[in-house]
Amino acid sequence: MLFPPPGPSGAPRLTVELDLRPDARGDMLPRILWAGVAAPDEVGRSGYPSTFRGPGVPLLGEHAHELFTRPHLRGHRTGAPGSDAAWSTRFVLEDVEAADERLVVTATDDAAGLGLTTELETLPGGLLRGRHTIRSTGPGSYVLTGLEVVLPAPDDLVELLDFTGRHEGERTPQRHEVTDGLWLREGREGRPGLGGATVAVLGSRGFGTRTGTVLGVHVAWSGNSCFRVERSPDLGTTLGGGELLQPGEVVLAQGEAYTSPWVVFGASDEGLDGLAGAFHAYERSLPAHPAHQPVVLNVWEAVWFDHDLSRLHEIADRAARVGVERFVLDDGWFHGRRDDTAGLGDWWVDPDVWPEGLTPIADHVRGLGMQFGLWFEPEMVNPDSELYRAHPDWILSTGSRVPQLHRHQLVLDLSREEVWQHVHDRVHAVLSSAPVDYVKWDHNRELLEAGSGPRGGASAVRAQTLAFYRLLDSLRELHPGIDWESCASGGGRIDLGVLERTQRVWTSDMTDALARQHIQRWTTQLVAPEYLGAHVSAPVAHQSGRRFTLDFRAATALFGAFGIEWDLSTATEDELDALAGWVALHKRFRPLLHSGRVVRPETADPAVLLHGVVAADGSEALLAHVQLDESASNRGTVVRVPGLVADAAYDLAWAGPVDHRAVSRSVALPETGPTDGVAVRGAVLGTRGCWIPRRRPETVTLVHLRRARVDGQ
Ligand code: GLA
Repeated sequence: MLFPPPGPSGAPRLTVELDLRPDARGDMLPRILWAGVAAPDEVGRSGYPSTFRGPGVPLLGEHAHELFTRPHLRGHRTGAPGSDAAWSTRFVLEDVEAADERLVVTATDDAAGLGLTTELETLPGGLLRGRHTIRSTGPGSYVLTGLEVVLPAPDDLVELLDFTGRHEGERTPQRHEVTDGLWLREGREGRPGLGGATVAVLGSRGFGTRTGTVLGVHVAWSGNSCFRVERSPDLGTTLGGGELLQPGEVVLAQGEAYTSPWVVFGASDEGLDGLAGAFHAYERSLPAHPAHQPVVLNVWEAVWFDHDLSRLHEIADRAARVGVERFVLDDGWFHGRRDDTAGLGDWWVDPDVWPEGLTPIADHVRGLGMQFGLWFEPEMVNPDSELYRAHPDWILSTGSRVPQLHRHQLVLDLSREEVWQHVHDRVHAVLSSAPVDYVKWDHNRELLEAGSGPRGGASAVRAQTLAFYRLLDSLRELHPGIDWESCASGGGRIDLGVLERTQRVWTSDMTDALARQHIQRWTTQLVAPEYLGAHVSAPVAHQSGRRFTLDFRAATALFGAFGIEWDLSTATEDELDALAGWVALHKRFRPLLHSGRVVRPETADPAVLLHGVVAADGSEALLAHVQLDESASNRGTVVRVPGLVADAAYDLAWAGPVDHRAVSRSVALPETGPTDGVAVRGAVLGTRGCWIPRRRPETVTLVHLRRARVDGQ
């Protein structure tokens, strides 16, 4: 059978073909024979996708069926004499419940004392997600070590892409050949992390942003995770993931169950952009998805911890003047927080800095027509804080040992009810005491030796992750008017678990525009651009010391959740006017940028990056040609624009301030746009493209394509 079943025509969907034949039943779970993109029409005509089908893998891969690869379920039973055999399961299928959008398979292994439920769901955008629930029905305790959701991958997906990174350098792509054996990417930081895998993508040889067949996986979870690719001579390749469980983290008593995070798969025959598009479509279907992303000014890089009301007023005045819609007061407003060594945990307004509370600044900001936002880091505590002095035992730790400090801070044990309630009530009190429209929720250190005292020091990363979700969910419910941003030293907590609950993410603490181009490009592999906080920072980047023009900085921020991080009290009148022009440009294109399809056309020139957004109906597009460095040739770049209406004619025009100076006198930019006023057919733009000459390094050239009012001949 096919899941999802062939439906009315629409976008292609990741489909699996399951073998449920009676002779395969007995003590055998359904096998997934094939996983890949199936366009509804194709499926309808042929009965099943006309693609390679290998031996497949069972819905839950077990050693007992001669699978010598890494079992999908790993665990054992203790404390019940005679039940030691539970480490090896052979589940017997009980029931398959299949609906259009959801498939539920249940099975039991009486000898092991375990029940299994596997759910598969098709999602808007054509993604497929799966999760397992394991229930212990036997005596004693079942110690769970791992439980993962795994799909077979066609044999011709021979290359693997995933991501790594660091603080101020998130989501660097890395690639290698798939070979026999297990490739495992583990996230052990208690958050997805700055160097996390984000997505793992298998693809056909040489796959790129626009070309190739790809199958990708993401673990929708904000705690520890694992991504796995395994190839064996007999089974072929598999791709999957799940939660990474630390020793003793999940121990199930009789009647208790564990449900894995959703593991989300996507596929495309149109390269990485097709896969990204499926993730974006799903995010845009979420109830929490931001219908409108206001232009933000965040004062962090402008004032750091130095909160001076008159200076902040001046920045707010200038922000309003350039068109900012939301003003965010970052770290430094609460008790004892004059630098990063003290104060975390003491969530009340510091009267030394804010003698009249936050209401005066919030009122000033709102009086200027802007929303007011505030920074928190609820899960953390500085040893130098009232909270820690009163409750030194409230931290996550193993035994009596205090974990190593990072950024002078420790992590609170939110799995303890009294700690959770305390943090909850403090944050709730602040949000109730001032008119706050927006919260930037930070998480600036990894979970290290994250045991819970009341549980004898046993690992509590999973419990902490669930407690974080519960905390955020409760505060969202209490403050339904607030928008939430997920930040973790930049982009350290970006995943579909947190995106179900937030409207924005802080993409990276790197605000150097040149470095940002790469970080944003690759974060869009998972996240739609409207979530990606992208701020215009100071002329000289704080992180790198490099100087960039305002146009380069602003054009780099243009496509995302546009914002400003620059100290506007130091900007000249001309700079403020120019910035206002960029804010207006962003607002003009925002409906397109935050709803259209992200495209990353390929180019042969390593000194050039191309990206853009094409309206879903092909009526319009905005493209960016980013000249990163000097090109080795004088040939310029051809930009192919996918997703246009083949028969329609398009007008092409420069957008934004265009520096018409070319690098050599012989090559000048045409006055009005790359085609200089001549409308061009969508089909031609898709295949032959338009040409942009070599530009100066560190320039962005923007091209606006609009369907001509009357189609050309
Ligand atoms: C983290 C964030 C920054 C800023 C600081 C404040 O590093 O990523 O944007 O909020 O914390 O301390």
